[in-house]
Amino acid sequence: MSSIKDLNLASKGAEEINWAARQMQVLEEISNEFALSKPLDGLNIGACMHVTKETANLMMTLKTAGAKVALCASNPLSTNDSVAAYLAENDIEVHAIRGVSNDEFFKHLNLVLDTNPDITMDDGADLVTLLHTDRSDISVLGSMEETTTGVIRLKSMEKNDKLRFPVVAVNDSDTKHLFDNRFGTGQSSMDGVVRATDMLIAGLNVVVFGFGDCGKGVAERAYGMGAKVTVVEPDSVRALEALMHGYEVKNSLEASKIADVIITVTGNKHVLDTQHFDVMKSGVVLANAGHFDVEINLVELKNQSSEVNRVRDHVESYMYKDKEVLVLGEGRLVNLTVATGHPASVMDMSFANQALAAEWIKENYKNLESKVYTLPKSVDQKIAATKLKLMGGQLEILSDDQLNYLDSWEFGTS
Ligand SMILES: NC(=O)c1ccc[n+]([C@@H]2O[C@H](COP(=O)([O-])OP(=O)(O)OC[C@H]3O[C@@H](n4cnc5c(N)ncnc54)[C@H](O)[C@@H]3O)[C@@H](O)[C@H]2O)c1
Repeated sequence: MSSIKDLNLASKGAEEINWAARQMQVLEEISNEFALSKPLDGLNIGACMHVTKETANLMMTLKTAGAKVALCASNPLSTNDSVAAYLAENDIEVHAIRGVSNDEFFKHLNLVLDTNPDITMDDGADLVTLLHTDRSDISVLGSMEETTTGVIRLKSMEKNDKLRFPVVAVNDSDTKHLFDNRFGTGQSSMDGVVRATDMLIAGLNVVVFGFGDCGKGVAERAYGMGAKVTVVEPDSVRALEALMHGYEVKNSLEASKIADVIITVTGNKHVLDTQHFDVMKSGVVLANAGHFDVEINLVELKNQSSEVNRVRDHVESYMYKDKEVLVLGEGRLVNLTVATGHPASVMDMSFANQALAAEWIKENYKNLESKVYTLPKSVDQKIAATKLKLMGGQLEILSDDQLNYLDSWEFGTS
């Protein structure tokens, strides 16, 4: 029995899911193969993912593969209630309602685990964490992880010998993080900032905290919209890379002084704190695109503000000392809370990886250890080749002579 907002929203959900499906043809090809081979027949899959139209296509693919699927949300503000309704109407057990309380959110996670999943799928390691704490009575064959922050947690568990089962770091597939994190987060985060504020980005000082895959994407898209981009980054190689891209590179305090808009995307906590709020300009806009809502220290911002008002949808105004600080989407992933998340075309590759990872765990679990695995490179090559072809690109085929040359050590200066 699902917990959703309203089953009557299912037809609206169908429209959205079909729209996304048009741009998810790699996943469609996998789904067509799964319809014949049924690789997940008889398995229970428990997923904790953002409940979006793209995720819905992945859930339907897993169902096509023969799995029984239960889904909860990986963020209380990212659920599309229409999508949840459609899935519930189509034999997926869904526990997700946009805007639920924290208690309800964790109840939903537990309801998914009540289905005794054979394989779990996380975006932020919430199910895996429960499987190592309150629900350690449940045994799974393996799990999949979608995002950087989740993978960092899992690698720490592996290092400390705490991991109880194998996990596939889907995030670490090249066809995931080089595209989803960069092009997906880049476009959809700027989309979130624009939808929330209706501001003209051209000419603004946009500061990006973190120059990993996601930060690169956000900086590129902000720059493309005419912003003067400044990057804050503690890793010297990445900071230098940002500088040579043509961005200003400053420390967090200097960057905070000049910012009109700040987007955090670090996976770290309190990267914006009171010392930064103190030096910001009045009217500065803060948004977070990192996984958890801890990148901006909202607790201190609230404690030290005389007033907090919602001034329009998704925008909260904090009267902090003598200035106004505007926070978008309650400091949660701005691309999912304000906009609709990554475009389907890029999720196509991420979710092709997820679908193939489920099959890979089913085929290999007997030989796997309690470690964090990456999918074989051949999977990346297959997904990339299919996507390239679908998008009209042509791959260069090397001759045997060229392959031989690249493989050999005998040839040198002639
Ligand atoms: N919004 C989305 O839809 C979405 C999509 C994918 C990943 N994510 C999340 O975004 C975050 C970043 O992901 P990524 O793949 O770019 O990770 P990454 O590890 O490649 O990059 C993070 C960067 O932040 C830097 N950093 C750490 N602390 C910092 C600080 N205090 N100030 C400035 N920079 C700091 C690191 O040095 C690193 O270069 C993670 O939490 C990830 O889970 C979000």
